[in-house]
Formats: sequence, C-alpha cells, structure tokens
Amino acid sequence: MPVDVIVGLQWGDEGKGKIVDLLSPHYDVVARFQGGPNAGHTIVVKGRKFILHTIPSGIIHDHTLNVIGNGVVIDPVVLMKEVESLSVQGIDAASKMVVSKKAQLIIPTHRFLDAAYETQKGDLKIGSTLKGIGPTYQDKAARVGINVGALASPAFDSIYNKLKERHLKLMPTLGIELRDAEEEWMNAISFLRKLNLDDTEVLLNNWNNQGKSILAEGAQGTLLDVDFGTVPYVTSSNTISAAACTGLGIAPRHIGSVLGVFKAYTTRVGSGPFPTELHGEAGQQIQKAGNEFGSTTGRPRRCGWLDIPALKYAIMLNGADQLAITKLDVLSATGNLNICTSYSQNGAPGYHPENEDLSPELLPCEPWNEDIVNTQSLDSMPANARSYIAKIEELLNQPIQIVSTGPGREQTLGADLFGVR
Ligand code: GDP
Ligand code: IMO
Ligand code: MG
Repeated sequence: MPVDVIVGLQWGDEGKGKIVDLLSPHYDVVARFQGGPNAGHTIVVKGRKFILHTIPSGIIHDHTLNVIGNGVVIDPVVLMKEVESLSVQGIDAASKMVVSKKAQLIIPTHRFLDAAYETQKGDLKIGSTLKGIGPTYQDKAARVGINVGALASPAFDSIYNKLKERHLKLMPTLGIELRDAEEEWMNAISFLRKLNLDDTEVLLNNWNNQGKSILAEGAQGTLLDVDFGTVPYVTSSNTISAAACTGLGIAPRHIGSVLGVFKAYTTRVGSGPFPTELHGEAGQQIQKAGNEFGSTTGRPRRCGWLDIPALKYAIMLNGADQLAITKLDVLSATGNLNICTSYSQNGAPGYHPENEDLSPELLPCEPWNEDIVNTQSLDSMPANARSYIAKIEELLNQPIQIVSTGPGREQTLGADLFGVR
C-alpha cells in the first residue's frame, strides 16, 4: 500500500497537525520524518487543545501507531514533557509510539551553540527557535552526532562527554547553566531508554508489505527547506515530501499521495524575505483574528496575503496532488482581501520569494463578512468565500480537497474525500 505524505507548503504553521489528526483514523501508522522540537503542531478536539513538538499528530487516536523516524532530531527533555502532558490529558503515548534508533539526540550544548551562533549573526540572525536543531543536524552531517541507538551502549557516558567536550572547545565559557541543563537531560535520557526504541525503517517496510497504511507527517514548511527555502533563513532539514523517504527509510516507489497544506493567507515567524507581508493594521488584524503566535515560542507571526508563485513552487517541489486550505475563517471581515498572483524584480518575473526586493502583483478579491467557522458545506458558504477558493484553484490549476474553517476537527469540509482506502 502506498505511503501518503503531508507537508506544509508555506513557512510552517499551516495547520499540518490538525489535518494529520483528522486523517489519522484512515491510517494504521503516522510517522514523523524530519525536524524536531522547533515544530509545534496543534490539535483541537472537542475544545481540548494538544500541542505536539516531536510526537506525531496521530497520537490522539487509540488505534494509530506513531513513529518518530530516523530523520527527526530529539530533545529527550521535550519528548518526556510531551509524553507527561499527554498522560495528564488521558493519553498513554508511550504505549503507541516507536522511536527510531537512528534519530539524532539534541544534547544541552546543541541548544547553547544554537543561541551562540544566532548572537554571532547579529542583524542577520535567522530567528531560530533555539531548540538546538541546526547544531544537531550539523553534527549528524559531520558524523559526530549521537543517535538514539547509542543509549544501549555501555560507553554511552563517554560518547556523550566526547561530543560535549567538542562543543565546549567552541564555547569555553559555559558553566553553571550547563550543569543544570545536563541534570535535566540525563534524567530525560533514563526516561527515553524505557520507550520502544527500534529500527523503524525495517518496521515501516514490513508493515507496508503487510498492507498496513502509513501517513508520513512533515514539519516546518517548504519555504523553510534547507535546499529550496529562503536560504539562509530556513531550518536545517529538508522539509519537502522527498524527505519522507530519507527520514523514514521508505523507497520513493512506495510513496502515494502528497497532501500539501496551506493557509488562506501567509505567515512567517523568524527573519527572511516575505514578499506579500502586510505591515501595519491589515497585518495586525489577520494576526489577531488568526491568533498568529507561535505554538513553540509564542513569538508573533508576520502575516501577509496568499502568495501564489510561492505556492506553485512548493506544489512543484513536493509533487502535491492533494491540497488542504486552512484558516479560511480568519479572513472573514478583513475589509479588503488580495491574492498575490505574481511578482517581479526590476521587471524580471520571480517565481520564488528569494529576496526582499520582489514587488508583488495583487489581485483584489471580494471580501465576506459572515462568520464561517461552523459552515456545514461548501455550498452554504458565503458566495465571496467560495469565489476566493475557486480563484485559488484557478490560479494553481488544481482543485482543493480540504477546506478548514476552524481549529477543531469538526470544522473541516471535504476531509471525507481524502485518505479513505
Ligand atoms: P502546524 O505547525 O502546521 O501544525 O500548525 P500550528 O499548530 O503551529 O498552527 C496552526 C494554528 O491554527 C493552530 O493554533 C491551530 O489550532 C489553528 N488552526 C488550524 N486550522 C485552523 C482553521 O481552519 N481556522 C482557525 N481559526 N485556526 C486553525
Ligand atoms: P511547524 O512544524 C514555523 C522557523 C524559525 C526560524 C527558522 C529556523 O510548527 O510548522 P530552527 O529552530 O529550525 O533553527 O529555526 O525556521 N521554524 C518554524 N516556523 N513553524 C515551524 O514548525 C518552524 N520550525 C522552524 O522560526 O525562522
Ligand atoms: Mg507549528
């Protein structure tokens, strides 16, 4: 059975968590393939809110098995807190979760290095979540990182100390702060040891051969991809659908549908180009209506109009054959409403938001005032909201399968069309 993939088509926070949770009942397994605690995936079920950083968004459903794949970087402290917080909400995450032995560990000095690198960059800082993501992937590529499998080694302490010493040579001033962080980390390591640790690439391929259905969950968004995003203002992993293969150990021929999730407008948290960004009141109105504050850091998200050239680029890179639009309700009563259909720089067309100097071409759309949160069908939506969706489909030359009109599972139209095998 093909493995389906869900990815973000913008700069992250598109509502991937909600869509993965929504579709999870149709899958036996949900597997995260990259990123780490920089992600914040929010799920709202009957008014109860869950924010997941490392744990896949299939965890709320009883029958779904959840895999943290080899492409993920894990901070044991964050993972332990996630499991504990789910437990308080009545979910026994540990019993339905498997962690790859090949996933990399974020150690405390990775986080300190992340902060030091950002400080060094001054005005050119990326706006990292400071969770240690960059330095951990850096060590993986340098072949000096520590993976989860090392927990079984009798020499684990010396493996850890060797990497720590390597970091301390770069950052000799760390003292007390590190001691406290280390104690917390070692405690979380004991917790991690008790989880189900395995060669998840073998498990996933066996399940796939047995006909089990698998949904691969991406983190971040295409424009944060380390190769194709707005480099250098990106994360340190590949975020596109192809990363599901390397991040889980699944061969390309097993990939089925790719569902791209995007917001009805655009947001970005952190620095970097954003051609359709709205400065001033219009941006603030969307920020307020959409509660656009990071699930991981609480930072305000920059807001702007929907960017069609960027979306087309993302759809191309991911091979997205299914689309979900989220947060359409946030655009109710915006006063005015635009879609960016193209942009140019000094007269030359741009197809990807590569730099700060692109001038967006805006197509005005008719706004609507009605609250659409509890709309039961596309037909009962205000005509202008339907026209907005139809215009996006026309510009993308592709239909949209899922329309999300609120954070709750039930505030979704069209989900029944996808994932039912
Ligand atoms: P992710 O990182 O892609 O999973 O997205 P986040 O969880 O970081 O951010 C999306 C936010 O929007 C969360 O607070 C969701 O609960 C919320 N959300 C998702 N879909 C909708 C929607 O259709 N309407 C509204 N108003 N909120 C939504
Ligand atoms: P989810 O999965 C939005 C952004 C950071 C920063 C840049 C690099 O919730 O969509 P990093 O910590 O990776 O070194 O930060 O990437 N970023 C995200 N923005 N959603 C995310 O994840 C993000 N993960 C990282 O704000 O600009
Ligand atoms: Mg998020």
